[in-house]
Amino acid sequence: MRKGLFALAAVGLLATGGLAACGKKDSGSGSSGGSSSVGKVGVILPDTKSSARWATADAKYLKEAFDAAGVQADIQNAQGDKTQFQTIADGMIANKVKVLIIVNLDSGTGKAVLDKAKAAGIATIDYDRLTLGGGANYYVSFDNVKVGELQGQGLVDCLKAKNYTKPIVAELNGSPTDNNATLFAQGYDSVLNPLYADGTLTKGPNQSVPDWDNAQGGTIFEQMLTQNKQIKGVLAANDGLGNAVISVLKKYKLNGQVPVTGQDATTQGLQNILAGDQCMTVYKAIKQESDAASALAIAIAKGQKPTTATGTVTDPTSKASVPSVLLTPKAITKDTIKDVIADGFVTKDEVCTAAYAKACTDAGIS
Ligand code: BGC
Repeated sequence: MRKGLFALAAVGLLATGGLAACGKKDSGSGSSGGSSSVGKVGVILPDTKSSARWATADAKYLKEAFDAAGVQADIQNAQGDKTQFQTIADGMIANKVKVLIIVNLDSGTGKAVLDKAKAAGIATIDYDRLTLGGGANYYVSFDNVKVGELQGQGLVDCLKAKNYTKPIVAELNGSPTDNNATLFAQGYDSVLNPLYADGTLTKGPNQSVPDWDNAQGGTIFEQMLTQNKQIKGVLAANDGLGNAVISVLKKYKLNGQVPVTGQDATTQGLQNILAGDQCMTVYKAIKQESDAASALAIAIAKGQKPTTATGTVTDPTSKASVPSVLLTPKAITKDTIKDVIADGFVTKDEVCTAAYAKACTDAGIS
């Protein structure tokens, strides 16, 4: 029934689009008629390793939105390679996209692409990561300081539940060249620093992981742990880094005793929570984020002025005020994994495989 309604709506859209196009052509007879054409959109995603989201969620949702709107979109992934990122951008610019959406690999290389696009008259959208000093026309993301606050509070709650006295907390931050990692850290440090200061928690090692490289994150954490066996909690900035930490903890038979945080509500992260090895994750509804970005891009591609970027973010480098959409993240613990499934971000079948079946039932996932 629901499918039927959607199908009808889609036909309706197509029909309207067709009529509108005809109408324009008629009224424009005598001219070239080029003004009625819908522009193309280019999207460059960063990699497929720093988080599962780029491979499994963003590309899929963006494609669905552009397809539904009848807007031609070229969605590519730079696979963590900054040269490749530039090459993809050059191709899209040469191909005359009307809008370019990027998730930068760092602000410097991101800005180079945004500058070239701007020079070619292409509208630009920073997706998820703000390109510092980049001058994109729009920015779509989550409240990333809030993401960090949820992680900090989640870790504090898990440590409290363990009844540890003055537990040592290690921090494993995201990439030093990702503005989001800076914002996440600002958020969790705003929770943790006062507790280090009043002696509730003990400040342990704190390091950033270049390019969010999960394997390197594991190596860094193993060094932290061998130098400080008393680490009792780990603020890991996303699920990939959290899983790298958990793998090391397993090796030392410490998993489950040392709460670890995460972010992205990946299948692996949710399973680590079910197993009791991960304390929490942060769910960012990627569909909302990709819908917000595609809505802006679709409006521009159709020659309309977008009206949905009602917020603003100040670029700390250029001090420019960037029209933005910032969405709200949600903390997820064992009890609320079911909410992520209900939202359709992951399926029960993906999360509740045989090894997690009992834990799923216990967590109220039906
Ligand atoms: C994103 C996170 C992601 C991380 C690594 C950040 O910029 O906001 O969702 O886990 O990059 O890809």
